Amino acid sequence: MPINRKIKNIALALVLSASCPVAFAASAPSGVIQPANNDVANTASLQRGARNFVNYCMGCHSAKYVRYSRLAADLGLTEAQVIENLMFTGEAIHDTMQVALPEDAAARWFGVVPPDLSLIARARGTDYVYSFLKSFYLDPKRPTGVNNLVLPGTSMPHVLWELQGYQAAVYDGESDPAHDAVHKKFKGFELAQPGALTPAEYDQFVRDTVNFLDYISEPMQLERRNLGFSVLGFLLVFFLLAFLLKKEYWKDVK
Ligand code: HEC
Repeated sequence: MPINRKIKNIALALVLSASCPVAFAASAPSGVIQPANNDVANTASLQRGARNFVNYCMGCHSAKYVRYSRLAADLGLTEAQVIENLMFTGEAIHDTMQVALPEDAAARWFGVVPPDLSLIARARGTDYVYSFLKSFYLDPKRPTGVNNLVLPGTSMPHVLWELQGYQAAVYDGESDPAHDAVHKKFKGFELAQPGALTPAEYDQFVRDTVNFLDYISEPMQLERRNLGFSVLGFLLVFFLLAFLLKKEYWKDVK
């Protein structure tokens, strides 16, 4: 392939990959996509997120690229703690996080197989997943009784309803006499039935869960960050040495 074609292709791939998460978010009404503000360096949050994930998501979703033993190493837990708190169906510590639900049963129940979530935070973006879990609202027209503003018509039920409660979507109507129509503009959500958590606690619950999904989508990012600081420190020291050495050599020349 000629070199400039190659460069063009690489540039195109970069542009496409950069615009993908934006394209997903663009279908939601404005104000629905909110920043997740999660922090993968916060180990306590990752531990809570792992607990949330195995208790509330793994009934339907796998994380098949993640091994339990890796969680122990990265989340500051002993293997015994992982076995006791995160593993409930007799898996071995070096197993990956598989779902119990058979795919054909899932397809029959939901119409689609719930996707593996190992890479979802990278595929869709953390803000998307955070907002998705906060955007279920009551809709009697749907078989699950709820709809979602981020992924309209989704077949995922509102599995966190006991925690969040149920919310209603509130719209501002704007009549448009020219077209004899009413344009609905999304105003916000209103809690129709409170859940076990306050809205702030629910936000934290979702943020921890998304934090965990962010971490599993690239487990190396924790190590890479620490390594980055060491490398910069080394370069700094090396620069000083090189600088002093240069001064020493040039002393006689000048
Ligand atoms: C009862 C089964 C079930 C449970 C439990 C469940 N989900 Fe889902 N989930 C689904 C199904 C079904 C889909 C596919 C939805 C679709 O494509 O319409 C889905 C899709 C998703 C998606 C992808 C959305 C997209 O844009 O494609 C994300 C993210 C997600 N789930 C996150 C979660 C998280 C996080 C949890 C735990 C808090 C969870 N799910 C628990 C059934 C479930």
